[in-house]
Amino acid sequence: MNNFTYERLHNNLQYLKMNTIEELLDNCLELAARDSKTTMEVLDYLFEQERKHREAVAIERRMKSAGFPVNKTLEVFDFEFQSSIDKTVIYDLAMLRFVHNAENVVLLGPPGVGKSHLAIALGIEVAKAGLSVYFINAGNLIERLKTANREGVLEKKLRDLMKYKVLIIDEIGYLPFDEEGAHCLFQLISRRYEKSSTIFTSNKSYGEWGEIFKDHIIAAAVLDRILHHSTTINIKGESYRLKERKRQGIKTGNLYQ
Ligand SMILES: Nc1ncnc2c1ncn2[C@@H]1O[C@H](COP(=O)(O)OP(=O)(O)O)[C@@H](O)[C@H]1O
Ligand SMILES: [Mg+2]
Repeated sequence: MNNFTYERLHNNLQYLKMNTIEELLDNCLELAARDSKTTMEVLDYLFEQERKHREAVAIERRMKSAGFPVNKTLEVFDFEFQSSIDKTVIYDLAMLRFVHNAENVVLLGPPGVGKSHLAIALGIEVAKAGLSVYFINAGNLIERLKTANREGVLEKKLRDLMKYKVLIIDEIGYLPFDEEGAHCLFQLISRRYEKSSTIFTSNKSYGEWGEIFKDHIIAAAVLDRILHHSTTINIKGESYRLKERKRQGIKTGNLYQ
């Protein structure tokens, strides 16, 4: 390859933003000549690396914009400890058919049983599959929606939230919503109904949702839309945090430390 060809090739790769190929090219051509690789093999290798790198960057970007508070994956979830959860149901959800069908997932149970962990783990699967996902605490979400409502930009805020293929609303029920908050949330849920998936976590059973909304009619209307196409995971076990504390307590000989 003469100098002109070499330079033009590098310039074109830069122009086309094929940075990985550009980086690997010289070394790859050298090794290919040494190992008598075919042109097809060289091209295949280079494009495969470029694609892999771009995918990894895109996943990283989606993971950042998802706003996960911590990184929790399915692989580190101990299904033996939480025997009320059917592992096959969770792994089936991780195939993301529910996302393609715009269905919802609701994780219910007392504190510490892994609701947020599983919601984040499913969210990570969504990001890995190349789809957009956003995690938000229910209290924060309501505050943001109410602020937008007062500033007359609720419509824009709702549209912004529609761009996520999956929205994770964590901790419904820790704080009750006032009338305005319930009304805003109802609007969001109505928008997403049958269009995009939402994952909810809550420490309150469905029967108690009326208290969260203070208004039983709105609660019923919200639940009606959420539950029409949804999977509920009811977790009944012991808190994992408590288990960890007990284990530490046994080590130190004091359960109450
Ligand atoms: N079965 C489990 N296997 C591994 N870690 C778990 C399990 N259940 C809960 N945890 C961990 O315990 C902590 C509390 O779980 P979390 O999902 O926040 O509970 P919840 O949202 O139900 O209150 C987190 O650090 C989580 O990763
Ligand atoms: Mg939680």
